[in-house]
Amino acid sequence: MPRSDAATAKQSRFEPLVYSPAARAFHWSIAALVLITIPIGFIMTDRGERNIWDATTNNLYSAHKLIGLVILTLMIGRWIYRLSHGAPASAPTLLSWQKGLSHAVHWSLYLLLILVPVGGYLGISYYPALDIFGVKLPGIVTPNEDTAKLIFKLHAAGATVVAGLIGLHLAGVVFHSFIQKDAILARMWPGAGR
Ligand code: HEM
Ligand code: HEM
Repeated sequence: MPRSDAATAKQSRFEPLVYSPAARAFHWSIAALVLITIPIGFIMTDRGERNIWDATTNNLYSAHKLIGLVILTLMIGRWIYRLSHGAPASAPTLLSWQKGLSHAVHWSLYLLLILVPVGGYLGISYYPALDIFGVKLPGIVTPNEDTAKLIFKLHAAGATVVAGLIGLHLAGVVFHSFIQKDAILARMWPGAGR
């Protein structure tokens, strides 16, 4: 193998430019679930505020809690994977402010996607509203409705920040794909290399 090919092979082995299949599986499954559960959260609370307590509202609450707990489980796995395997080095086309901003958005999402669902579970424990499609979950605190209300306010605020960060994240993807025209999206695209 010519020297330059050997160097490239070595570099691509140790500094992959695309996210690994496992990192992409975590990214896309969590992205899809978060994009489903945020609108469900807003729709169900809106129905609750309008006093529509029918089977649909109850099913929306159950679905929201269930999806939220699946997100929490996947996020714990994702944290462990991210800390043990790292991520590909930033794309070489990124300016330093773009690197800083994207890392801030990514790590804020990592943090909030743990805090928001943990808050949800704490909220339903304090309320208490622990059933999901008729199955009762264990409570983790002594019930207190006032504390539950405060926690749900923080839960809603955290979820709104998550929605804003996703908007910023998607704006970044659009900017890189259509204005800067670099290959950022390919780094995370399902089925990308390796
Ligand atoms: C990443 C995961 C989650 C996201 C993004 C999320 C997002 C939301 C959103 C947007 C709302 C509506 C807020 C409002 O308009 O007041 C909401 C409400 C709610 N969420 Fe979550 N949630 C998540 C996880 C969970 C989990 C794991 C649970 C419980 C197991 C949960 C339980 C609730 C409950 C009970 C409400 C209604 C609160 C109220 O009536 O004020 N959520 N969530
Ligand atoms: C649906 C459209 C989405 C697209 C097209 C997209 C695209 C991407 C791309 C291209 C990257 C790699 C950036 C880089 O080169 O470093 C990335 C990373 C990331 N995305 Fe998304 N994303 C989407 C949705 C989401 C959502 C909904 C979330 C959060 C719930 C999210 C959270 C993240 C995080 C945390 C990273 C950093 C991964 C790491 O470094 O470990 N993305 N995304």
